[in-house]
Amino acid sequence: AIEVRKAARSLIRMRNRIRRYADQRTAMLAGVSHDLRTPLARLKLELALAPKDYDTGPAKKDIDEMERMLDGYLAFARGEEGEQPVQVDLEALTREAASAAAARSRLDILVGTPVQMRVRPLALKRAISNLANNAADHGKAVRITVTTPPGEAVITVEDDGPGIPAEYYEDAFRPFSRLDPSRNQNVSGVGLGLTIARDTARAHGGDVTLGKSELGGLRATMRLPLDAERPKGIKDEDD
Ligand SMILES: Nc1ncnc2c1ncn2[C@@H]1O[C@H](COP(=O)(O)OP(=O)(O)O)[C@@H](O)[C@H]1O
Ligand SMILES: [Mg+2]
Repeated sequence: AIEVRKAARSLIRMRNRIRRYADQRTAMLAGVSHDLRTPLARLKLELALAPKDYDTGPAKKDIDEMERMLDGYLAFARGEEGEQPVQVDLEALTREAASAAAARSRLDILVGTPVQMRVRPLALKRAISNLANNAADHGKAVRITVTTPPGEAVITVEDDGPGIPAEYYEDAFRPFSRLDPSRNQNVSGVGLGLTIARDTARAHGGDVTLGKSELGGLRATMRLPLDAERPKGIKDEDD
């Protein structure tokens, strides 16, 4: 039994070390992103004052893209950790999250039994909209289902696009990973959508996994336990 406790303790120490390391990196990412916003705002202003005969369109597009990227970095680095859990209607939240995707794809939302649950609403909405936007980025038809098998809520987001080969599923979740950029150069993103979606699901005690959809493209499945208050297991110790 002593051996087991020793092993548990060293695992906890290792986990805490990894956490601190990750914290430092996200803090740096947040700092850099934040600092870059000021000169970028200045650049935008200068552009607005450019002579009339000068075509500022492409430069403006670049600046917009950079702003979107910085927003993405910042949102990722900050997380929505501080947000308080509140009771929400999962269907309503999903519909809101999918509204941008609905505007540019054929979107169907299928809901079984209505489900109310305690979640961090902004974080979860961002996570679901990341999945919905990915589907709309890669496919024309998008299907979202909300079901409630015993003990959990399951949201699946599917599309009829090219999908992802199974051997790349885990790569797709890595921060800043973008698979085969030549395939969809018109799609702008920074490779954080799936990272954030999985992070958020895990913070709610669930997970996001990928698979193949009957529609032909990708199926992303987000599972969320209905009872997020779960036993802690081994007591937390700092080293
Ligand atoms: N629905 C999808 N169909 C096909 N490929 C996808 C889909 N969703 C994500 N991907 C691939 O996974 C990569 C990572 O996705 P994501 O983390 O959302 O980053 P981003 O969308 O910013 O590139 C994308 O660049 C894309 O190659
Ligand atoms: Mg994305």
